Amino acid sequence: MISENNKSVIYSKTLASDVNALLEGVSSEQLFILTDQQTKIHCLPILQREGALKNAKVYTMPCGDHYKTIDTVVDIWKFLGENGGTRKSMLINLGGGVVTDLGGFVANTFKRGISFINIPTTLLSMVDAAVGGKTGINFNGLKNEIGVINPAKTVVIYPDFLRSLDTENLLSGYAEMLKHGLLSSEEEMNKLSKFDARNPNFELLAELIETSIEVKANIVKQDPTEKGIRKALNLGHTIGHAFESYSHEIDKPILHGYAVAWGLIGELFLSYKLKGFPQNLMTETVRFIKENYGVFEITCKDYPTLYEYMAHDKKNANAGEVNFTLLSGIGEIVPNCIVDKELIYQALDFYRDSVGI
Ligand code: GLY
Repeated sequence: MISENNKSVIYSKTLASDVNALLEGVSSEQLFILTDQQTKIHCLPILQREGALKNAKVYTMPCGDHYKTIDTVVDIWKFLGENGGTRKSMLINLGGGVVTDLGGFVANTFKRGISFINIPTTLLSMVDAAVGGKTGINFNGLKNEIGVINPAKTVVIYPDFLRSLDTENLLSGYAEMLKHGLLSSEEEMNKLSKFDARNPNFELLAELIETSIEVKANIVKQDPTEKGIRKALNLGHTIGHAFESYSHEIDKPILHGYAVAWGLIGELFLSYKLKGFPQNLMTETVRFIKENYGVFEITCKDYPTLYEYMAHDKKNANAGEVNFTLLSGIGEIVPNCIVDKELIYQALDFYRDSVGI
């Protein structure tokens, strides 16, 4: 068990009994579970195999980021209220990042805050969304515009859920693990770039996940509200978010983690150019990304649009400046690097050269 802001992350092989053990002091009428339409079918039966959880009241939301809205939140607030929810209630969020973000927000606001447990079911939510206390919803066309930072009482990692996850979603989560590797040590990065993510050894993956979560939890512990070092977790995301938003604009949506992986290529280039990140380590990471993630097709005509997305990223402190977290080496973090347009265009050139377009 590792501690996250005085809360905990546990690794489970027997989900139902491990979660039941966390429910001491919570009466079964006060137990609520949030699922989506997929996790209701595939994951809920495993969670409800035994104990008090069998009688928990279940709310099921539709799948997808599209439903991460205030309307869904209102509906769940009503469900809790109409089904006897009190300040002693406990909400268990069983799903990917949409469910843990939205469910965490519901729990943090209902009756001014009730306890919640996150049980992430995708790799992306295990290593990122469910850990670190960021909760919230999309609003007014903006992602995660409204929210609260307050962590789950416990995050329960049940790696067996990953055995049925498709390769694309596994790789999507794995990109955040690569990011954590780059923020930690050469030893960890070595292990990550040797892993066969297309034909995974699940025992080894479970070990890599544990270390990856530890990297994130240690950063969050130092800076829970993202005033300083937590910005390191944005590595790969400035360019990555621009790719992701643009992919939606042109109706060829890409998965978040793929965008981050391609963003890492550009941001490692900036790290190499501006902060002396070792070239051989950049080349090795770029090789892994190219082999596993393929390409997102862009041409130099797309650069101005991509730049605009970066310039409007909500993480920039000042309008018109594009802010990056860069690295001078693996685990050597340089936050708040303002990079000019010309060099960002060079990073996009490097991305295209690296993936062969
Ligand atoms: N996903 C980045 C963070 O939790 O800070």
